[in-house]
Amino acid sequence: MKRIKGKDLLRIRDLDFEEIMQIIETALDLKKDLYMGKVMDVLKGKTLAMIFQKPSLRTRMAFETAMTQLGGHAIYLGPDDIKLGKREDIDDIAEVLSRMADVIMARVFEHEVVEILAKNSRVSVINGLSDFEHPTQALGDLLTIYEKRGTFDKVTVAFVGDGNNVSRSLMYACVMVGMNFRMAVPRGYELDEESVEEAKMIAKRTGAEIFFSDDPKEVVKDADVVYTDVWTSMGQESEAEERRRAFEKYRVDMELMGLAKENAIFMHCLPAHYGEEVTKEVSRSKNSVIFDQAENRLHSIKALLVHMTP
Ligand code: CP
Ligand code: NVA
Repeated sequence: MKRIKGKDLLRIRDLDFEEIMQIIETALDLKKDLYMGKVMDVLKGKTLAMIFQKPSLRTRMAFETAMTQLGGHAIYLGPDDIKLGKREDIDDIAEVLSRMADVIMARVFEHEVVEILAKNSRVSVINGLSDFEHPTQALGDLLTIYEKRGTFDKVTVAFVGDGNNVSRSLMYACVMVGMNFRMAVPRGYELDEESVEEAKMIAKRTGAEIFFSDDPKEVVKDADVVYTDVWTSMGQESEAEERRRAFEKYRVDMELMGLAKENAIFMHCLPAHYGEEVTKEVSRSKNSVIFDQAENRLHSIKALLVHMTP
């Protein structure tokens, strides 16, 4: 099995198309093995260090369970444990962790922090969410779409909501594998121009279509996948009121879902703020795959760790 060794995963495009497909294939195999009760201990004796500056349910559970199921061990370093950049400089932390751990995962506020960690680490660093990207979420999302649709060919993903970490990684991931990506976002909350231009270049190469609008109806019409995320991300709590006003017309409800293809799937990275970006009704509808999507964080992260851990 080819391993993606010696690499960091800070942004989804740190992986190439072949590597992404390899992770998806491995994830599908590992999922099947797990369901059949096969024990895999390919990471026996390996240690994952997990730095968390922010809360987490799925990412922590997925990384920690992944290491357990693969025969390795994960260590949780929460905000009060190492006080990143306050008790100790980030480059010193990276040096020390490299002496003990085989791979590092970090969930941070500023994206620059994962870059400093990676620059000063001798082992691979995985971004477990920064203010700029959420690459392991995008891997789980691709796995989910691939499982549900059986292909990426001619699949159209419609994201409704904020130009944030999740939508940025999703945009790149979609166009990299040749899926069409559409996004409905209110003025002032769009993804940065540089990311959009870069995604457009990738789309040109892969033949994907990419489209932005401030009209959710236009974007969702005939889509295969409807995806949303919170209006207020972790660290933006002081803007919550203002964002609620700006995004009021961007709620995914049954009426909006009705514009997508009849068999369209509804996706959300979770946690959800029901009544804001999505109604509870949509989340529990027959089209919703949000809990399969959450479970796929585990399978995709297991595959990623198998390929990245030396
Ligand atoms: N989707 C996701 O990253 O969830 P957590 O914030 O709970 O890890
Ligand atoms: N955009 C959200 C994603 C949470 C998984 C946040 O950053 O809070």
